[in-house]
Amino acid sequence: MPFHLTDEQEVIRQSVRELAERELKPMAAILDREHRPPLENIETLAEMGIMGMILPSQYGGSDADHLSYTIAVEEVSRVCATTGVMLAVHLGLACSIINTMGTEEQKQHYLPDMASGKAIGGFCLTEPGAGSDAAALSTAAEEDGSDYLITGQKIFITNAGFAKVFIVMARTTNGISAFIVERDMPGLTISEPEHKMGIRGSSTCTLFFDKVRVPKSNMLGEEGSGFKVAMKGLAGGRIRIAAQALGIAQGAYEEGVKYAKERVQFGKPIAALQAIQWMVADMATDIEAGRLLVYQAADMEDRGLEYTEAASMAKLYCGPMATRVTHTALQIHGGNGYIEGFPIERMYRDARITEIYEGTSEIQRLVIARAILR
Ligand code: CAA
Repeated sequence: MPFHLTDEQEVIRQSVRELAERELKPMAAILDREHRPPLENIETLAEMGIMGMILPSQYGGSDADHLSYTIAVEEVSRVCATTGVMLAVHLGLACSIINTMGTEEQKQHYLPDMASGKAIGGFCLTEPGAGSDAAALSTAAEEDGSDYLITGQKIFITNAGFAKVFIVMARTTNGISAFIVERDMPGLTISEPEHKMGIRGSSTCTLFFDKVRVPKSNMLGEEGSGFKVAMKGLAGGRIRIAAQALGIAQGAYEEGVKYAKERVQFGKPIAALQAIQWMVADMATDIEAGRLLVYQAADMEDRGLEYTEAASMAKLYCGPMATRVTHTALQIHGGNGYIEGFPIERMYRDARITEIYEGTSEIQRLVIARAILR
């Protein structure tokens, strides 16, 4: 491992890996096949304190650093990308935004249940007419006495099938504002989950807001600051999606190497063939390059440096890298790679979304170029 990790970070990697191998790996194919949300995995991760690990201990967290959390997302995604994205969005977006932008009352009210995994978080920015152009969102929040009434529609919301707390961006008088919305607030309805190509257990739904009454005290940050809240949240979120991609690639690479050593053709394991050896070398190099970018971005976040550009670089590299590595690892498997039952087929499908959500590769290039040319 070239990037210097502290003893504590190494211990976290080892313990999350053991837990993931023991508890999450056996569930991964089942969640995928049955499109089943990772509810048991949430309990398992919560028992180990992972669901709120970067939150302050006063709100039920463990005061862990962002690099440790990033490694946890990587290790979880190495065996189950569905559980990886659940953790990335819950803690990296929803909890983190409340922790950094919330008032003391908001933090005390929401974070302890979120840290313990009792209340899972979601992040609602995307709309039918506002995907990459997030600022074009039209969901509106209208003042009504001591409340706001939110009306509109949010699509592709990760964790929505079971989440209890949503960060919702909506248009107010002076721009876009961020709100904390609870699942059971009247006027909010949630669709059945989408049927997706990959990360099938991650519950992706549409939220319909019909004059959802939200107290003014649930606004996050200043009125009109919601777009910045979302962008800042996404900068951190992108490191965790890069970590998810890294974990998927690592898992696929290990499957490819294992298969190459076991599969005998032409009288010897195919790992003895130079064609396969080059694939192994290319995958290992690609993963290592991605890992350095991901850890560097998380380390900058921990050191209080500006990390938006580094986060976008990590995601821009790791999304396509996961697609390349899963493609190659599947190729090593030959026909068996195309059959359900070998995990590589699922990993290949799971990898693709990491080039799309939390900002497509094209948007990452835009963020990077703007930072350079500013
Ligand atoms: N931190 C703080 N503020 C930021 C910021 C950051 N990282 N990035 C931008 N801002 C601020 C800017 O400084 C600017 O402020 P001023 O007006 O005061 O100058 C303001 O936000 C507007 O920024 P831009 O001018 O850059 O806005 P834009 O409309 O031109 O475009 C964009 C920005 C980068 C294209 C943005 O729309 C974007 O990131 N689009 C992609 C959306 C996205 O990632 N969606 C993911 C959905 S969530 C998801 O996928 C989660 C999941 O479930 C897995």
